[in-house]
Amino acid sequence: MPKLHLITYGCQMNEYDSERVAGLLKADHYELCDKPEDADLILLNTCSIREKAEDKVFSQLGALKGLKKARPDLVIGVMGCMAQLQQGRIQERAPYVDLVFGSPAIARVGQLVGRVRQGERQVLDTGEGALVKLTAKPDAASRLKAFVTVMEGCEKHCTFCVVPVTRGRERSHAPAAIVDEIRGLAASGCREVTLLGQTVNAYGRDLDPPTDLASLLELVDGVEGIERIRFTTSNPYNLTTRLIRAIRDVPKVVEYLHLPVQSGSDRILARMHRGYTVARYLELIDEIKATVPDIALSTDIIVGFPGETDADFAETVDVVERVAYDNAFVFRYSRRPGTPAADMSDQVSDAVKAERNAVLLEVSGRVAAQQSRRLAGRVLPVLVDGVSRKDAREASGRTRCNRVVNFDARGRGLLGAVVPVQITEVLPHSLRGALAEPVGAAL
Ligand code: 5AD
Repeated sequence: MPKLHLITYGCQMNEYDSERVAGLLKADHYELCDKPEDADLILLNTCSIREKAEDKVFSQLGALKGLKKARPDLVIGVMGCMAQLQQGRIQERAPYVDLVFGSPAIARVGQLVGRVRQGERQVLDTGEGALVKLTAKPDAASRLKAFVTVMEGCEKHCTFCVVPVTRGRERSHAPAAIVDEIRGLAASGCREVTLLGQTVNAYGRDLDPPTDLASLLELVDGVEGIERIRFTTSNPYNLTTRLIRAIRDVPKVVEYLHLPVQSGSDRILARMHRGYTVARYLELIDEIKATVPDIALSTDIIVGFPGETDADFAETVDVVERVAYDNAFVFRYSRRPGTPAADMSDQVSDAVKAERNAVLLEVSGRVAAQQSRRLAGRVLPVLVDGVSRKDAREASGRTRCNRVVNFDARGRGLLGAVVPVQITEVLPHSLRGALAEPVGAAL
């Protein structure tokens, strides 16, 4: 059996795509292997969101060059966002790469590898493709949690972002195809699904008849065996009262919302082309908190966007404190080819970006710790999903509001169960607890 080694960078959608590729290549009898040295085919599924992500891929390719030299019949391919963005430039820089293809070409992966096998050199496919719901997965993929792509692409055109180039227009998958896929996952033991889309809360408006994410959540809620439903990433611009109420009312939906603010300054938000003001964003946050009191909130923030002054940055710090996020992902602005912000004249220095990054990490860590404290003493249902990373004798799981809880697991057989856990202690990145009722009791 030929062997496939897959290296995945970037977001959850890439993880999902990698699984599809492994699943599709099963038809050509490829089986997954852990080490590049054992592989007949190595595929790098890449990310372009920041320059650093692309640097990692080129250095990984450099590391694989020796293998290719020693075994010229080894096939090396680069797929995903970087393929779409950099196209022929990848093979210019790394001529030993046999195959480059973007995400629209995933469905054709078997064919593309076949062309290389037949001796064609430097195969490149970054063309468009029809939207197909691929559900193939490798044999090893049965697990408690799974990602499910519900829509592809983004048309927001934020001035910092390459996604419209790498992932194309917004296209939603049909609700029936999504529900079918999730039924299949539930049948193979999956208990939690995360619905994925670059702007997942814009789901369905391009369909005929149009629908929305709230309706999709209700459909997925009806799938037997699924205990929890998550979705990411939402854009403040498309956030509706209907969706906020669905988080409260649809029983299996987690009380967690990732809602990137990007900046706390109206001036910078306008330059980013985000389509909302700070006041509007905070109004949404108030509505969310009033509707779903236990909600966990997280966000993405870019520091050092062109033209960002100390005063703009101070406003961002202010928003983090006011919203009191449970988690904030902070990124230093990275110039991306072809995006409007890359050409703005007032770029911020690396030193200032690093300093702002450090300040925000400190502030967001502090408010997140305060947020966790409000859960101490409560009994919360926890979906047990594994063993604690810090102590192998303990089980680990998540509350409905997305907090990791580690607790003593006397007895076994809890994996995949939802059990009541009393939160006893709050640590910086997790909660500790104790089973509130004997093992076996489910909420
Ligand atoms: N530079 C830095 N961060 C970026 N992001 C997107 N584009 C860039 C860029 N050019 C961040 C945004 C987005 C997250 C996935 O990555 O915060 O929400």
